[in-house]
Amino acid sequence: MTEPLPRKVAVIGAGDIGAGWAALCASAGWPVAMFDANSRTSERAFTEVPRRARALAALDRATPGIVERGLLEFTQTRSLLQAVQDADWVIEAIHEDVLAKQKLTESIEQVAGPDTLITSSSGGLMPIEIFGRVRRLDRCLVTHPLNPPELIPLVEVVPEGRTSPAAVQRAVDYLRALGRYPIVLKKAVPGYVVNRIAAAVWRECIDLVLRGVISVEDLDRAASLGPGIGWAAAGPHLTYHLAAGEGGVTAFLQHLLGSFEHLWEGKLATWHRLEPDQQRALTHAIEKAYTKDVGMLREARDRRLSAILRALEQARTT
Ligand SMILES: NC(=O)c1ccc[n+]([C@@H]2O[C@H](COP(=O)([O-])OP(=O)(O)OC[C@H]3O[C@@H](n4cnc5c(N)ncnc54)[C@H](O)[C@@H]3O)[C@@H](O)[C@H]2O)c1
Repeated sequence: MTEPLPRKVAVIGAGDIGAGWAALCASAGWPVAMFDANSRTSERAFTEVPRRARALAALDRATPGIVERGLLEFTQTRSLLQAVQDADWVIEAIHEDVLAKQKLTESIEQVAGPDTLITSSSGGLMPIEIFGRVRRLDRCLVTHPLNPPELIPLVEVVPEGRTSPAAVQRAVDYLRALGRYPIVLKKAVPGYVVNRIAAAVWRECIDLVLRGVISVEDLDRAASLGPGIGWAAAGPHLTYHLAAGEGGVTAFLQHLLGSFEHLWEGKLATWHRLEPDQQRALTHAIEKAYTKDVGMLREARDRRLSAILRALEQARTT
């Protein structure tokens, strides 16, 4: 860690992602000021952020005393100005709308201090668009978290061409201090990396369910316990490097590339839109498969996630 810790973080937007960022920063003992334009969402975040920060402690992913210290300095503000003033780091976490993000980042720039780092949580918009109205792009970049941000450590860091190397390093330092695992993209592409992978895989998953090949539950098992569990231990390239004996990837390509090419040659889903009747069919199938309350499903998922993370951390240190 080369960068001093932020004296205050401002989170703008208190939806799922903003609340996750706030819970994560508070759980590290960092003062957080949060602003949301919608008073109802603000009200919900007032209980949601402490709940999620304390859940991290219950899952052994944060220290209870530090969480409580951070929560004492968690505030919600009535204006953007109140949240942003004195913040060393402003995290934009409003909905994925390029115009709204442009307007907001322009307003943030007007009230932020000259050294404040400004990051967007966007899941795939090009940084040049998000920060299209900002004058000083050197301290602006995307830090795309995964959901839930307080649990999944990976964060994609996507600089704009004019972002300074110092700002990228500062974002990386902050994220590491939060126990995150930042990966810096060499260039911005729509959807960045994670959501491009997710979109490609999800289309095929939806297609298999809607074509009646498999049930929702079994498809989810196939993905989680098939490529998902392997990819958690080794990404796709390392997986295939290890999948054809001593010959590594050379042998794999010789023996098995053909079977992938056979599928790539028009056997996989390529549609671009999920029509309303398909959306209805998918929703019906998913809701029929998972009947428990979303909060309970999420809690169970988070327990499994933290167990996987713990196991991976232990495997790395032994
Ligand atoms: N939900 C996910 O799984 C996920 C994962 C990673 C990244 N993201 C990205 O994170 C961002 C936030 O996503 P989300 O799912 O939390 O969105 P959301 O719609 O749940 O929450 C957005 C919040 O921003 C508030 N808001 C809108 N305009 C505002 C403004 N000008 N000032 C202050 N508050 C404002 C809204 O009232 C709302 O509460 C998006 O860019 C999204 O693409 C989402």
